[in-house]
Amino acid sequence: MEEFIKENLIKAESFHPFFEKALNEMLLAGGKRFRPELLLSVVKAYNPLLIDNAKYAAFAIELIHTYSLIHDDLPTLDNASLRRGHPTLHVTYDEVTAVLAGDALNTYAFEVLSKSPMHNDTKIELIKILAENAGANGMVLGQAIDCYFENKKLNLDELKFLHLNKTGKLIAASLKMGAVIVNKNDLAQKLYDFGLKLGLLFQIQDDLLDLLDESKTGKSSGVDENKNTFVTLLGKEEAVKKADRLAGEIEKELEGFDENLKKELNRLLKKYLYRHKNVN
Ligand code: IPE
Ligand code: IPE
Ligand code: MG
Ligand code: MG
Ligand code: MG
Repeated sequence: MEEFIKENLIKAESFHPFFEKALNEMLLAGGKRFRPELLLSVVKAYNPLLIDNAKYAAFAIELIHTYSLIHDDLPTLDNASLRRGHPTLHVTYDEVTAVLAGDALNTYAFEVLSKSPMHNDTKIELIKILAENAGANGMVLGQAIDCYFENKKLNLDELKFLHLNKTGKLIAASLKMGAVIVNKNDLAQKLYDFGLKLGLLFQIQDDLLDLLDESKTGKSSGVDENKNTFVTLLGKEEAVKKADRLAGEIEKELEGFDENLKKELNRLLKKYLYRHKNVN
């Protein structure tokens, strides 16, 4: 995936002194590439010949995710100065650059998908899934609730709704898009529901990791104090228990997938299912 990203960076040649460099900076700063790897796991399990084509869709998801991080770090959202081990864009450049770089990554995701070497029907389905889950009824809605309810307590159902939208839906969409690429439309919904649960776990773990020193996470930590998270609402111990329970349920659900898919997902998820255990 890293190679593919480097070969497909955004081009924006002009006389602007740094805009093109700023656009690609957070993409090149690394990151776990969890969402692209989820999509590619599904494709590998069912049709490895399609991997090269699927990388366009995997990249599109990473573009949306990276834009969400750039905007998430802005002073008016989480006001974070470190991301992926690098200063955030508004720190290195300015807020205007960070806002516009996010905008450009968001648009570029759909340019990449629409130009990808796949059947038009497949591409439209992928664009639909990505747009639905990233936008006003997905990640963006989650971010709106996350920010509006800072300093205002949510109940646990509302908190779950927030997490499912801001994080769960993009993770679920990654798996579903993988299923669409390999034409396993019967599997798409099952993988989507599985992905929502995985996304909920991923965000609870992220909230626990916020308790760690930023040298361990590569991003600003301690920024969640006034946010609604399982850690701030229930305390660290209950949050760990909740993560344990979800990880256990996910392991059980993995058993219900086809052998190859189980193998691919197990290989990827073994790094993730219990990462909250690193917070002591
Ligand atoms: C962080 O996502 C933001 C959340 C949705 C929890 P990641 O933990 O996947 O961040 P990167 O891509 O590795 O930087
Ligand atoms: C952000 O959640 C989720 C996004 C949609 C970007 P967080 O605000 O907890 O993510 P981090 O901890 O800054 O990566
Ligand atoms: Mg945030
Ligand atoms: Mg944040
Ligand atoms: Mg966080």
